Amino acid sequence: MARILAIESSCDETAAAVIEDEVRVLSSVVASQLPVHGKYGGVVPELASREHLRSIVPVTREALQQAGLNWGDLDGVAATYGPGLAGCLLVGLTYAKAISLAAGIPFIGVNHIEGHIHAVILEARQRGTPVELPALALVVSGGHTHLFQAAADRSYRLLGKTRDDAAGEAFDKVGKLLGFGYPGGPVVDRIAVFGDPRAVKFTAVRMKGNALDFSFSGIKSAVLRWVESHDMVEEIAARKLLVKERGQPSLDEFLALTPQRTRDLVASFQRTIVAELLNHALEAVDANPDFRSLVVSGGVACNTGLRAAVTEASVGLPVYFPSTALSTDNAVMIAAAAFPKFLRGEFSPFTLSALPNLALA
Ligand code: KG4
Ligand code: ZN
Repeated sequence: MARILAIESSCDETAAAVIEDEVRVLSSVVASQLPVHGKYGGVVPELASREHLRSIVPVTREALQQAGLNWGDLDGVAATYGPGLAGCLLVGLTYAKAISLAAGIPFIGVNHIEGHIHAVILEARQRGTPVELPALALVVSGGHTHLFQAAADRSYRLLGKTRDDAAGEAFDKVGKLLGFGYPGGPVVDRIAVFGDPRAVKFTAVRMKGNALDFSFSGIKSAVLRWVESHDMVEEIAARKLLVKERGQPSLDEFLALTPQRTRDLVASFQRTIVAELLNHALEAVDANPDFRSLVVSGGVACNTGLRAAVTEASVGLPVYFPSTALSTDNAVMIAAAAFPKFLRGEFSPFTLSALPNLALA
C-alpha cells in the first residue's frame, strides 16, 4: 500500500490531496482565491503567491487530517512545478521539497497539464472503465488549450494548441467585458442556456499552417465590436455594479439584468467556441485511426455546452470527461499523475525549479 500527498499551487487555487494505491482518494482540499481576485477581474500574481503562502500549511494539514494520516504514513510527496505563475509554483514546490526532506520520502515534480489528463484517467479507473490509450486529450482551461496524443508509455505528442488566448481565457475576457465578473466561464455557461445560440453569427477561424491549432482572439474582438455597436453601456454597468455589491450574484440576479439580446450573444459566443473545440478534436480523430478514446479535461471541461456537443457528436470513440470537482484545479489530479512515476521510481531532485512555461510533450 502506498500513499502520496500532492500539492497544487500553480494559479489561484491552493490544493492538497492524498491518494492511496493509485485510485483511492483519501482526501482533497481546495482553497479558492476567488474572493481575492474577483474584484480585479482576473488573477493578480503577487496576491496569488501571498495567498498560497497563507494557505499552504493549513490546507496540507487539513488534507492529512481528512485522510486520518500523519506525516509518517506518507510514501511520497508530489507538487506541480509548471506551467503556472512562477511565484505561485514556488510556494507549493518548496513546501513539498521540505516535506520530502523532513519525512524522508521521495519528491516528485508534476506537470500541471499532465495532472489535468490524469484526473480523467483516475476517475475512469475508479468506475472500472479505464481510458484506453493512445487517447486524444483535449486540455481546455484558463491557461491552456491543447490537443495531445497520450500514449500508453505515458509519452505525449502535441497535435495542436492555441496561438493566442486559451479557451477559458476567452470565456473570462468576454464575461468580464459583459459585466459578469470573474471568472466569466461558469456564468457565461449558465446564461447561454437562456439564449439562442444561432442568433449572432461569428465567422469560423481559418488557421494557416497546423489546422489543429486554435485561435480565440478573433471571436473575443468580434464580441467587443458587437457590444460597441449595440448600445449596451447601461446594462453592462448595471451588472458590474451587481457584482461589486454582491460578489458572486445568483443566476436569477444576473438574468434580471440581462436582456434577451445579450443572452443570445452569450449563447452564440459559447456555441462558436464549443464548435471550434469539437471540430478540432474530430479532425484529430479522423487524422489518426490509432486513437482508442477521447479525453476532455481542464476547467472548461465543466462547460455544459461542450459536454453536450461532444457527447452528441459522432466521435466514434469512448469519450471521458472529469467530474466537476476534478475539472478545475485540484491536487488529486497531481497525485494521480505522480503515482505512475512513484511506482517506477522516477523521483525528482531537489534542484528541480519552478518552470512557468513548462511544456508537455
Ligand atoms: O483548470 P482551471 O481551474 O485552471 C487553469 O489551469 O487554467 O480552469 C479555469 C478556467 C477558467 O478560465 C474558467 O472560466 C473556466 O475554466 N471554466 C469554465 C467553466 N467552468 C470553469 N469555462 C466555461 N464554462 C464553464 N462551466
Ligand atoms: Zn489547470
